[in-house]
Amino acid sequence: MTYQEFWKKQRETALSLNKETSAVKILIAELSGFGANDLYCHFDEEIPEEKEREILKALSRYFENGEPVQYILGYSYFMGLKLKVSPAVLIPRPETELLVEIVLERLKDVLSPAVIDIGTGSGAIAIAIKDQLPDSQVIAVDISKIALAIAKENADDHRLSIQFLESDLFSSVTGTFDVLISNPPYIGIEEEIDPLVRNNEPPGALFAPMEGLYFYEQILKQSKIHLNPKFIIAMEIPENKDEPLKELGKTFFPNAKMEILKDYAHRSRIMIITNQ
Ligand SMILES: C[S@@+](CC[C@H](N)C(=O)[O-])C[C@H]1O[C@@H](n2cnc3c(N)ncnc32)[C@H](O)[C@@H]1O
Repeated sequence: MTYQEFWKKQRETALSLNKETSAVKILIAELSGFGANDLYCHFDEEIPEEKEREILKALSRYFENGEPVQYILGYSYFMGLKLKVSPAVLIPRPETELLVEIVLERLKDVLSPAVIDIGTGSGAIAIAIKDQLPDSQVIAVDISKIALAIAKENADDHRLSIQFLESDLFSSVTGTFDVLISNPPYIGIEEEIDPLVRNNEPPGALFAPMEGLYFYEQILKQSKIHLNPKFIIAMEIPENKDEPLKELGKTFFPNAKMEILKDYAHRSRIMIITNQ
């Protein structure tokens, strides 16, 4: 069977099961060693039988078990960096790339910033910052031992020196920082979410008490003694909580500048608090 015949057949299956055809394309292309956009260049080639069996096995995990493609492959991409992922860590998201881009833009003229990433998961944020700013000193913390092991493996794969620390927020953190960056769990416990996410990604990375606001309150409250006089706090936020988040910002940092920034779809996604 050619790649084209195979793709058409699997595409039909995806449509009949109401599954994403883009996910099918990624699985076929990545497992064949092509880029997702290059699959078309190989359409006339025959799929080796062994490869076909391997792809069919992966597709059945997607079609039948509803597993996310990134967990099936065992990796994902974040800001162009290939990162190992497993069900112990959140799959890094494009909105988090925006968070990192904004922080990098604001650090353009800052020499050797000290950065802390709270709730590092796969290490995506910390690794992308260290990759772009080799002179920065980056500490990344998480409460999950397994997540930290994956994050460390990812940093080692990219030969980046990052200090990883098991910590309940700041509990094991010493020192002060120029930048605090975090994408904390922020889905309210009662909130309805995509079953693909709820059934597969780690609950400890998704859900937070206080209708999703718990970690913002704790991070802002605990961060004060860990910030240098000029600081940037940058956090990913849920799209519908501007007012309570502004209130929390004002409570803990009454004299700082507060911004809520929107993504390309005009949804509030990022909160920045600065004192500079
Ligand atoms: C939404 S995920 C973000 C992962 C990664 N930073 C990203 O953006 O892809 C939140 C992370 O916070 C971690 N976490 C949850 N509670 C924590 C706590 N009390 N202290 C430190 N990390 C925590 C979770 O284990 C998870 O890895």
